[in-house]
Amino acid sequence: EWTMASFVREATEAIRQQVGDKKVVCGLSGGVDSVVAAALVHRAIGDQLTCIFVNTGMMRKDEGTQVRENFARAFNINLVYADEKSRFLDKLKGVIEPEQKRKIIGNEFVAVFDEVAQTIEGAEFLAQGTLYPDVIESGSGKAHTIKTHHNVGGLPEYMKLKLVEPLRYLFKDEVRKVGEELGVPTEMVWRQPFPGPGLGIRVLGEVTREKIDILREADAIVVEEIKKAGLYRRVWQSFAVLPDTKSVGVMGDKRTYEYPIVLRAVSSEDAMTADWARLPYELLEKISSRIVGEVEGVNRVVYDITSKPPGTIEWE
Ligand code: XMP
Repeated sequence: EWTMASFVREATEAIRQQVGDKKVVCGLSGGVDSVVAAALVHRAIGDQLTCIFVNTGMMRKDEGTQVRENFARAFNINLVYADEKSRFLDKLKGVIEPEQKRKIIGNEFVAVFDEVAQTIEGAEFLAQGTLYPDVIESGSGKAHTIKTHHNVGGLPEYMKLKLVEPLRYLFKDEVRKVGEELGVPTEMVWRQPFPGPGLGIRVLGEVTREKIDILREADAIVVEEIKKAGLYRRVWQSFAVLPDTKSVGVMGDKRTYEYPIVLRAVSSEDAMTADWARLPYELLEKISSRIVGEVEGVNRVVYDITSKPPGTIEWE
């Protein structure tokens, strides 16, 4: 009989067999897959594992802290934290085309990861949170090309690291159960999907530090209120988008000219199709007034009522 406990037992045994006394590196994104993979590998081989967290500057609020404090420190996992915020922003200067932004963020991520991995002496293996659907998708050659999806996956050939993929026969819901079995914090286990390029493709057009900061604050309010309403696990994704435009508003007796925030919330099974979420008006009201009241530089909130297709979930 397949239980979480027996899966963890067998998977850790298999990891020990594969890795022997060699060292393993693992990139953490803050997402559930990489965190659970790391927790499992750590259960198997302890200090032979070093995790790498690249702060691209495009993460959600508190993502870095969660990975560092609530995960790496709590689990006693070796972690190299590479703070490369400025480096990513520099590369993105003047770039507005979404696919170009993806490419730049993806390439830069690989470059940073590679630099860090080289400093970890004797690393021969790379642990990844590849799931069964990822295996199927890349095998069928049908990986969808409407948007190129970068994940920690595309490491360069020359790195010559052998892959450890302990989750490759699991689906997302099983990964979450394994995460809970391993004691990964609930908040991380149940985090909604987040694109690899992060807030970089939710700041529409050119990415600047100012715009990212505005978006991150607005997004945190969206997430907080959706959670408070008990809907965070029921909607597939719920987040904020920052358009590259400004509109007129009024505050007290003054005219304002500031950014709007687009609120996006969808229900979905697999992200291939999605329906805009029928959020309660009172919740929309709460989110709107909090964002306009608390986030400096925003004077308006709109709700995206487009399903996929014809809209995509993300705006870029
Ligand atoms: P779209 O916008 O194509 O998104 O409807 C479908 C799902 O994929 C996520 N997404 C990405 N994930 N890198 C990723 O790792 C990307 O570049 C990327 N673009 C979109 C999106 O959040 C949704 O879950």
